[in-house]
Amino acid sequence: MFKYLCAIVILLTVAYSSAEVIENARCSRGPDARNIKSEVHEIRVIPCAEADDGEPCKMRKGTNATIEIDFTPTVNVRRPKAGMYWMSRVDMIFRGLKPNACQDMPCPIQSGTRYTYSTTIPLGRELPAGQYPIKLKISERRNIIFCQTLRIKLMEPDDSE
Ligand SMILES: *[C@@H]1O[C@H](CO)[C@@H](O)[C@H](O)[C@H]1NC(C)=O
Repeated sequence: MFKYLCAIVILLTVAYSSAEVIENARCSRGPDARNIKSEVHEIRVIPCAEADDGEPCKMRKGTNATIEIDFTPTVNVRRPKAGMYWMSRVDMIFRGLKPNACQDMPCPIQSGTRYTYSTTIPLGRELPAGQYPIKLKISERRNIIFCQTLRIKLMEPDDSE
């Protein structure tokens, strides 16, 4: 019995930890798609129980979301800036992300070394509910260190869906 329980716990742990790896979708349009200076290995979003189904990550206003990106830059970077945007006809700033990327990863970073960018974003009550593509971009002057798009579905705190 105990053996079975252990097996179940391990299976659940594996299922849970793999559920949050989302599709690697680098920015494909506009100036952000050019000049990308890194290889992105993996993107994890918490919460994102929907990741395995390729559905937008469901998140609730009034909670925090965490995004982690493993990447290897092909340039040295000293003072990267971070920006997050709603992708619409024009990109609109998504407030809450720390603009100084060094607060969310080690700085300076060196070409050819693997790093993890990890940020936690408060999902404010004032944000509009709905499903959106989001763009997360780390850049230093003209170099785009990475630029990824992800899809989220932002729900009201009491939405029962
Ligand atoms: C969100 O993160 C902030 C800062 O780390 C923390 O103070 C707050 O309690 C978190 N909120 C929730 C709902 O977890």
